[in-house]
Amino acid sequence: MDESKNPLLIVSVTLAVLLVARWIIRTRTMDGPTKKPLYRVDHSVLNIPLPLQSLWMNMGYWKDTDDFPTACRALLEQVLKHAHILPDEVSEKSTNPNGNQSLSIIDLGYGCGDQSLYIRDTFSQSAQNDPQNTKQTHLKAYIGLTLEPSHFATAQKRLDSTTLSTPHTAPFTIFCADAANPSSWTPQIHTAISHASQPPNDPAHPHHLWILALDTLYHFQPSRWPVLHYASTTLNASLMAFDLCTADTLSLWQRIVIRFLTFMGQSPAANWVTVSEYRDRLVEAGYARDKIAIHDISEFVFGPLHGFMEKRGRELEELGMSIGRFRYAGGMFGWWGRSGVVRACVVVARK
Ligand SMILES: *[C@@H]1O[C@H](CO)[C@@H](O)[C@H](O)[C@H]1NC(C)=O
Ligand SMILES: *[C@@H]1O[C@H](CO)[C@@H](O)[C@H](O)[C@H]1NC(C)=O
Repeated sequence: MDESKNPLLIVSVTLAVLLVARWIIRTRTMDGPTKKPLYRVDHSVLNIPLPLQSLWMNMGYWKDTDDFPTACRALLEQVLKHAHILPDEVSEKSTNPNGNQSLSIIDLGYGCGDQSLYIRDTFSQSAQNDPQNTKQTHLKAYIGLTLEPSHFATAQKRLDSTTLSTPHTAPFTIFCADAANPSSWTPQIHTAISHASQPPNDPAHPHHLWILALDTLYHFQPSRWPVLHYASTTLNASLMAFDLCTADTLSLWQRIVIRFLTFMGQSPAANWVTVSEYRDRLVEAGYARDKIAIHDISEFVFGPLHGFMEKRGRELEELGMSIGRFRYAGGMFGWWGRSGVVRACVVVARK
């Protein structure tokens, strides 16, 4: 039943895929440019305004936009809305069950800090001048973890250079650490988390500790399950995430291709489960089944992301630049969108 029991098949299919990929790359480069014209358009790189306004990196939520940073921000907003931390204008403005709450967020994988900045600015602004909206949500603390030193350095720089003038800014701390592995966290991280978990003295503000994971968990090594277990049992924290699942039924061939792609994309096989298996694993980790909600938003993710990457690739080529490795990612998202083999999900599990 499990194809991992047939390593020979996996090896031969992998070899076949690699050979085809090499052949495609060869034929592409053979009819590539041979003459070197004097004037090209690669001076475009000298015209790009720097520093960049944003460095978002997630799959995006493309329902109302075709702009990458806007889609990335919208994906974060989708997750916050499903967790009822931001009001969802359409359905539940008046029935927000968590009004007047205080919350702390532990962000597992903050990228280059765009989501950290968004969270800081949203909850500081709202505290001041947005009485209808998120006024009653008070951010007590934000803790971010990333494994990537260059992301940590970039995010720290961006946070430092945009300090808010608001007097009551919550403690904002980011670290470079392996979010997947709580036993590797330094004492400073544990101290910050234990501060963030303490409810404030004011009983009018029920306090809630949230784990946020925006498009990161499927990369976790050896899998996402240990940190989710830790979040549930040790921290008593709720979970809000954008994550990937597989379709309920997959052909052997689809399984092999997904396993190959996830191997190339550094995502352990243990992270690839169906929606109902995902729910079972959260229950095993200690979340109540009736407080788990998994929403499939694939329709607003893979297809439009593929379309965006194709278009961006063409635009860059006209300017003498290349979309590079994202060309292959774009093709993969297109396949996921057309076939439905991978599902894009917003996962919320409440304590
Ligand atoms: C919200 O919090 C404020 C300040 O702590 C408190 O005075 C108010 O009664 C609370 N409102 C509700 C609806 O709990
Ligand atoms: C866990 O958190 C929830 C919600 O914040 C709270 O109601 C519950 O009492 C907590 N459980 C424990 C064991 O602390």
